[in-house]
Amino acid sequence: MDSFVIEGGHRLYGRIRINGSKNAALPMLAAALMTDDPLILRDVPELADIGNMLKLLGTLGVERYDPTTNEVIDVNAPKGVVAMRVVDPTASHAKYEIVKTMRASICTLGPMLAKRGYARVSMPGGCAIGDRPVDLHLRGLAALGAQIELTSGDIIVRTPPQGLTGTTVFLGGPFGSTVLGTANVMCAATLARGTTIIECAACEPEIVDLANLLNAMGARITGQGSPRLTIQGVDCLSGTDYTVIPDRIEAGTLMMAAAMTNGDLILDNCPVDALLASIYVLQAAGVHVQPIGPEGPQASTLIGGPTMNGTGPAHDALRAAAKRHRAGLLSAITGTSDPAASSADSPMRRTVRVTCERVLRPVEVTTQPHPGFPTDLQAQLVAMLCLADGNSVATERIFPDRFLHVAELMRMGAKINRVGSTVVITGVKQLRGAPVMASDLRASAGLVLAGLAAEGTTIVNRVYHLDRGYERLEDRLRMLGAQVARVDEKELALAE
Ligand code: EPU
Repeated sequence: MDSFVIEGGHRLYGRIRINGSKNAALPMLAAALMTDDPLILRDVPELADIGNMLKLLGTLGVERYDPTTNEVIDVNAPKGVVAMRVVDPTASHAKYEIVKTMRASICTLGPMLAKRGYARVSMPGGCAIGDRPVDLHLRGLAALGAQIELTSGDIIVRTPPQGLTGTTVFLGGPFGSTVLGTANVMCAATLARGTTIIECAACEPEIVDLANLLNAMGARITGQGSPRLTIQGVDCLSGTDYTVIPDRIEAGTLMMAAAMTNGDLILDNCPVDALLASIYVLQAAGVHVQPIGPEGPQASTLIGGPTMNGTGPAHDALRAAAKRHRAGLLSAITGTSDPAASSADSPMRRTVRVTCERVLRPVEVTTQPHPGFPTDLQAQLVAMLCLADGNSVATERIFPDRFLHVAELMRMGAKINRVGSTVVITGVKQLRGAPVMASDLRASAGLVLAGLAAEGTTIVNRVYHLDRGYERLEDRLRMLGAQVARVDEKELALAE
């Protein structure tokens, strides 16, 4: 098992492109099950979860091929462009061995049911961040007429003799909407007879992107991005060639990394439109996120710039630039009044510059379904707020037990009190490096951020959690000036 060894205290500085979104790509890969034609996806990130999904699809009769030569290629070949075609529509059993490695396997259920009339998917268990039931997925599919059976830990779904039929489905649960539940029901409804309305649908950008992909394949979906989706069933879907949206969680994580190291980052391909709540919270904490247009300052003009403690002429220049842009941030990022915002680039693919005040301010934040502050950035934000000047409050409303990072951050000198699903974070002047471990992807990201800002050496153990959702994070951080090395257990033992 690999660990990261991080020497803290180095500013992040430079320019980086945000990768394609993991959580958008996963259900999109499963959409390959819904057509007899090839499906090509671009900007698919190189992640363990993506590899697992491709492996799973391989067992479900989907072959990966090279679109330039048409030859079959290994599922583990480099990602980026992923071309898939169905070669065996009878293989419809998603087995426990793969499903247990990745909960998102559940998003093969709706596509197989819709296209093949039958699916057997091992029931995903709970995970480190909570119970994670799938009752809403099943309720939605049942409303469309699916016959559902639970056998030997597997969910078996079948279409009735007359096929799936459109209806109105309410997908709200105790914690709001469900992202992958919406994906499953939307996919199934796409090939059902008649019209389906999904009420309390997830509004997440990844669901919008999936709906847009399905529409590009011939589906008739409207309302994506709102809580009411309307899906008029069609007879079949065709293949298409589609580019996945950039990853809002990777972007948000890098923004916080910049803030915590008093850094100065330019993020290209940044999905600002999907990050408004996060940018709002960052701004309240004293972090500046300025859209600058794709032609904005080159990284080379920034090199040799500010120091970690925020002094020096380059820092003053950056601060002046930040001040110029700070006023009216929200109107600028929504493209209304800022000249940079009127540039032709999409609000989902902006270039932004992230800088911050020397002193971070405390904030109160509650995670919510989109467009609220995302649960997938909570751990990173808590890490950042450990360095704020005062008391911050973070409440988790999606996964009330998603606080695996808290005890580990306290090992680094953080002062955090947890009461139920709320934590109160009392900012400290400095975090101190320590060996830490978290058994969840985003908690691990929070610990890496803490390590970047801490005094001394932090060892983040078991980074395979990070590899599920961040593409070569250590290389990317190193490119930006961080001192991070990936070591395996043996190297670590030798060093000790
Ligand atoms: N829920 C139910 N019943 C259901 C489904 C969900 O009660 O049938 C509850 C969950 O327990 C949770 C809430 O509803 O309290 C929201 O869960 P949701 O179904 O929306 O989560 P998901 O679709 O399984 C996706 C992301 C997660 C992200 C959540 C919330 C993917 C592959 N995963 O999970 O991403 O945290 O939405 O936004 O898209 C991550 O990337 O680190 C990650 C965990």
